Amino acid sequence: MMQMQIFYILQLIYLLQSQWIINAYPTDATKLKNIQEINCSQYKTDSDIIRKLFPDIQLNAMSPDRSITSALLNTNDRVNFTKIVNETTCIPSTIFCFEDLETLIIENSHFCDSKRRNYLPEQIIKLKKLTTLQISHVNFISLPNIIGKLSYLTDLTISYVNLISLPETIGNLSSLQRLSIFNTHLKSLPKTISNLKSLKKLMLQNNSYLHSIKEIDGLPALHTLDVRHCSIQDLPRNLPKLMNFYMPYNNLTALGSDIKTLINKANKNQNFQFDNNRITSITPEIRHLHTLSQLHLDHNQLHTLPKDIFDMTKLTDLYLRNNRFSPHRIHDYRNEFNKRNSKLKVYFN
Ligand SMILES: *[C@@H]1O[C@H](CO)[C@@H](O)[C@H](O)[C@H]1NC(C)=O
Ligand SMILES: *[C@@H]1O[C@H](CO)[C@@H](O)[C@H](O)[C@H]1NC(C)=O
Ligand SMILES: *[C@@H]1O[C@H](CO)[C@@H](O)[C@H](O)[C@H]1NC(C)=O
Ligand SMILES: *[C@@H]1O[C@H](CO)[C@@H](O)[C@H](O)[C@H]1NC(C)=O
Ligand SMILES: *[C@@H]1O[C@H](CO)[C@@H](O)[C@H](O)[C@H]1NC(C)=O
Ligand SMILES: *[C@@H]1O[C@H](CO)[C@@H](O)[C@H](O)[C@H]1NC(C)=O
Repeated sequence: MMQMQIFYILQLIYLLQSQWIINAYPTDATKLKNIQEINCSQYKTDSDIIRKLFPDIQLNAMSPDRSITSALLNTNDRVNFTKIVNETTCIPSTIFCFEDLETLIIENSHFCDSKRRNYLPEQIIKLKKLTTLQISHVNFISLPNIIGKLSYLTDLTISYVNLISLPETIGNLSSLQRLSIFNTHLKSLPKTISNLKSLKKLMLQNNSYLHSIKEIDGLPALHTLDVRHCSIQDLPRNLPKLMNFYMPYNNLTALGSDIKTLINKANKNQNFQFDNNRITSITPEIRHLHTLSQLHLDHNQLHTLPKDIFDMTKLTDLYLRNNRFSPHRIHDYRNEFNKRNSKLKVYFN
């Protein structure tokens, strides 16, 4: 309990600090360029470079200390993994000499241009094998368009960043399977996000300025969608592989007929969570969602259920705690569920 409180206080301090930084130095990473050439041939090996860059680095540690900069060398003695944490000086561009780099993690550390502003240098496209890129606790409001050229990227994570938009070129990341943008100032998604045909997992938690995700409609491979703690007012549509859909703490006021477009076409069981919204009604068309097995609706404003919900025999768990049902309704509903779907576990309190 105490730890949780400290965590929240730290997070609050961080938020206040980042707010202050944003106001002090507004930065648009796409407008800043650093195309100066890097001469990589002056270094013999990757470990030469990395030791010069970060003298205290942990190389090939079995269980690396999470809070310090570390790297792994592959069997050809080339750096394939680098995590740069809490560095106080600017990250030098020589990091883009690591031709075998597959994973790059940047946490609370910064590239700087000549004016020492934060940005993501365009040389990042020299990393032709990069599959995983994670950036957190940095200060930039946008990403450079060039990010769309990282064609091997399967995992992209941006978190605790004052990012307000994503570049349209993100739609060119045709290998991308997991996209996580959480705890940012993101206001909307680019239309091109619907081009991400390989995208399986989309994590967008804690983007409190995000009001709509209609741009993801139709994503063909998406199986997990997590949008907890945003400000979204409508359901997405047509996600034929969707299995896990987490939408607690949003601004839904109804489960409307769009929900029937979220049926899993491969007949896989689905778990949908809509706790802590302001839902007052559920469409009778929910009965078409015959792949739904868990439905979470705690902490909403429901006082009635559509009769059709009794016919959803695939449903195994139904959470309806902290709504506005009268005691006699709860009694009637329990009886009805007992008769029609005796396997169902339903929770009213
Ligand atoms: C790069 O550095 C190497 C070794 O220091 C040098 O021989 C070479 O001329 C440099 N290349 C360029 C393009 O500056
Ligand atoms: C890097 O190479 C090491 C040694 O070959 C290997 O164990 C590790 O999985 C590789 N890491 C990445 C991110 O590819
Ligand atoms: C490193 O940075 C993280 C945030 O990225 C912060 O939570 C942590 O306290 C820092 N650790 C040290 C040792 O400075
Ligand atoms: C990348 O995305 C942009 C914007 O969506 C588009 O105009 C461009 O043609 C794309 N480039 C490639 C190589 O697909
Ligand atoms: C989002 O915020 C909530 C409440 O502030 C917190 O409990 C949760 O851990 C956060 N999630 C992420 C992914 O940061
Ligand atoms: C969304 O819900 C939150 C919390 O219930 C509320 O503070 C906020 O004003 C709502 N936003 C909109 C646009 O309705």
